[in-house]
Amino acid sequence: MVAIKNSLPRRRFDVVIVGAGGSGMRASLQLARAGLSVCVLSKVFPTRSHTVAAQGGIGASLGNMSEDNWEWHFYDTIKGSDWLGDQDAIEFMCREAPNAVYELEHMGMPFDRNADGTIYQRPFGGHTANHGEKPVQRACAAADRTGHALLHTLYQQNVASKTQFFVEWMALDLIRDADGDVLGVTALEMETGDVYILEGKTTLFATGGAGRIFAATTNAFINTGDGLGMAARAGFALQDMEFWQFHPTGVAGAGVLITEGVRGEGGILRNADGERFMERYAPVYKDLAPRDFVSRSMGQEIIEGRGVGPNKDHILLDLSHIGAETIKKRLPSIREIAIRFANVDPIKEPIPVVPTIHYQMGGIPTNVHGQVVGTSKGHKDPVNGFYAVGECSCVSVHGANRLGTNSLLDLVVFGRAAGNHIIRHVKEIKEHKPLPADAADFALSRLDRLEKSSSGEYTQTVAGDIRSTMQQHAGVFRTEKLMAEGVSKIKEVAERVNHVHLKDKSKVFNTARVEALELANMIEVARATMVSAEARKESRGAHAPSEHKQRDDENWLRHTLWHSEGDRLDYKPVQLQPLTVATVPPKPRIF
Ligand code: FUM
Repeated sequence: MVAIKNSLPRRRFDVVIVGAGGSGMRASLQLARAGLSVCVLSKVFPTRSHTVAAQGGIGASLGNMSEDNWEWHFYDTIKGSDWLGDQDAIEFMCREAPNAVYELEHMGMPFDRNADGTIYQRPFGGHTANHGEKPVQRACAAADRTGHALLHTLYQQNVASKTQFFVEWMALDLIRDADGDVLGVTALEMETGDVYILEGKTTLFATGGAGRIFAATTNAFINTGDGLGMAARAGFALQDMEFWQFHPTGVAGAGVLITEGVRGEGGILRNADGERFMERYAPVYKDLAPRDFVSRSMGQEIIEGRGVGPNKDHILLDLSHIGAETIKKRLPSIREIAIRFANVDPIKEPIPVVPTIHYQMGGIPTNVHGQVVGTSKGHKDPVNGFYAVGECSCVSVHGANRLGTNSLLDLVVFGRAAGNHIIRHVKEIKEHKPLPADAADFALSRLDRLEKSSSGEYTQTVAGDIRSTMQQHAGVFRTEKLMAEGVSKIKEVAERVNHVHLKDKSKVFNTARVEALELANMIEVARATMVSAEARKESRGAHAPSEHKQRDDENWLRHTLWHSEGDRLDYKPVQLQPLTVATVPPKPRIF
């Protein structure tokens, strides 16, 4: 056995999974059921992962309440993505969707029911019948707690299948050998402050998003982009990071999510004049247009002086007309959130809302099996031993703008697919590859710098500057000047990240150390976002610089790849060819 510096304790598994949200636990379930040894690391108890906060539903063309089929779902997802989504991956996801939902149902997920016993489905933004003709009921819902129901179902199934959870552990860095293969991770046990090497024949990242790089977000505090940071530091590119979704309805001033399911149940956005302004912007889809479009329309109302409140800085979401009974039955958590965070009872009064950062469309590039793909051989060569699924990955089914409900779907479809692929792959591997002698050096040197720091800024001062820079320079409305300034500001902040001071050096449950380590991940995501955004000279989906009013397919129908070293960018083509059906050719996106 190779001597690893400081003889760190080592544990070996067939598969090491980082992240215990919906995608990580769907993958681990597949693997544990196949008899593989699986460890799942999580910074928090699994059922506190951010999937728990998903509210409105999981998309699948069950057709329980209105006629539907997977090809309509496929079309809507491509149009929603502003044609940046890869059509092979989108076909895979939309075809698999009904099975994925029935599987959850059979595991015991407590969906709401129709009178005939079928799963209740509500309308959601951008989901339509017959290519935009009218809204379709496609969001399979468990009241407004769909993510909560899904996560608890997966956790219980994993416990029954003997998945091993490493709770309150934080992965630090990937371990790669001279061939570039991934052999596991270094990880911090928060309870003791000890560092371990966790070896896997394969390693799967399911670390979720990074909404905490913005000042106002619906995301949990744990969403600091850890998987993206680790991947970037290990030399992997991050794809399409300029595309960040603003959810139209975060509670103004608090950021807490108010589900699009409210508008699915009939809720209406109104400006200061009480006008249902979405009718002007999207005559057919109205309040249920895709999120990028609704967020921009709300922003436009505010810019033109029709915002609400003393500062005219928010919009009202009115659901009083849908009735107390529906609100209590279908939207109980929304009522509670509105009362607690906005001091309004939505049965009687509208909720003050504002577009709020919700989701990153970009991530670690993968194929439909969850394998991370490198940049050689036409950007298609899978990296040996490395997989990524869920929000930290970019497969890419969401392109430049994700449709609501397609995130929970992405988690379970690709979590399962990655699990199946790993089962086949691991069976061919007799032994773990030997670790290089310097396997842990990089992570240990990062920790060592913090331990030896005797002066410097506090982590939260620097983190605050990341958040304010991103909020100001990568918002709903962007300009070339704003983005160029954002690039230089974020590069300055990046320098400061290398000099933060860890004052409290204690080992046991030292959250200051964890936050300092998270900061190193946040800055990779922030740099990737600013640099990729500044370079894209068109408007597509969530990226809308005012100098470029239109989408430019001739020059920009391509994916961005950002490399941490030198902030280098390169590009790869969008996959326009689906698996079995005809391409949906790019066309103007009207609603
Ligand atoms: O509005 C919502 O319930 C969020 C759903 C999603 O992001 O998919």
